[in-house]
Amino acid sequence: MTTLKIKDLRSRIEGKEILKGLSLEIHGGEIHAIMGPNGTGKSTLASALMGHPKYEVTDGRVTLDDEDLLEMEVDERARAGLFLAMQYPSEIAGVTNSDFLRSAVNARRGEGNEVSLIRFIRQMESKMKGLEMNPEFSHRYLNEGFSGGEKKRNEILQMMLLEPKFVILDEVDSGLDIDALRIVANGVNELRSPDRGFLIITHYQRLLNYITPDFVHVMMQGRIVKSGGPELAHRLEAEGYDWVKEELGITDETAGQDA
Ligand SMILES: Nc1ncnc2c1ncn2[C@@H]1O[C@H](COP(=O)(O)OP(=O)(O)O)[C@@H](O)[C@H]1O
Ligand SMILES: [Mg+2]
Repeated sequence: MTTLKIKDLRSRIEGKEILKGLSLEIHGGEIHAIMGPNGTGKSTLASALMGHPKYEVTDGRVTLDDEDLLEMEVDERARAGLFLAMQYPSEIAGVTNSDFLRSAVNARRGEGNEVSLIRFIRQMESKMKGLEMNPEFSHRYLNEGFSGGEKKRNEILQMMLLEPKFVILDEVDSGLDIDALRIVANGVNELRSPDRGFLIITHYQRLLNYITPDFVHVMMQGRIVKSGGPELAHRLEAEGYDWVKEELGITDETAGQDA
């Protein structure tokens, strides 16, 4: 069974420690949500797991199915089935969306096992239809001139084509109107499977009305400080984070908030 195990993870950016001993274990079939104030390190966690070179991991262990993730190069992590839908997807001029997606799919499938062009296009078109994306988006340069919502749908399109083992969605709901949110959530729910795990990072509980998580975690000061079920997300939405801080004796000076 697929398992992502994060143990006492510490990570720095430009010399500043952001993740301060974060532990979390996610099994196949489970959806975990992380909520937390701005600047607590949620995106840092996503980037550190993917192996972004700017995020230096100084301590801790991360394994994906007992393989040491931290030892792997970025492309090896992707090939091992880790996928991140980014909070701020990058634009790449001169590379069409469909070329980008096809090389990502082929990189994941490995040499000698590439998908044929015809088959790929058929798959891409059918997924785009499901996401109610205009077919012209396949010929446009990657994310260039896409609106916030279009970029997010495009991230979900990538996820659906790559069929990853382990999915991290970083604020995938930001910039989406209610219809787009429902479409994106349907895409995620369609991929729910006993051998696939999800980590959903979100600011707002509303996404969790469409994707029901098994576990909800609160992240503060670079750690998971509280865990519960879906009811925890409802309470955070209604009451904010102050009660958690009070419960744990965290002051604003130490909470690591920037907004
Ligand atoms: N590229 C970067 N350069 C410098 N500091 C950064 C960078 N990315 C994030 N940080 C800092 O790291 C902290 C955590 O950021 P982030 O992980 O994006 O938080 P969250 O996603 O929880 O809002 C913040 O204080 C932020 O300013
Ligand atoms: Mg973030």
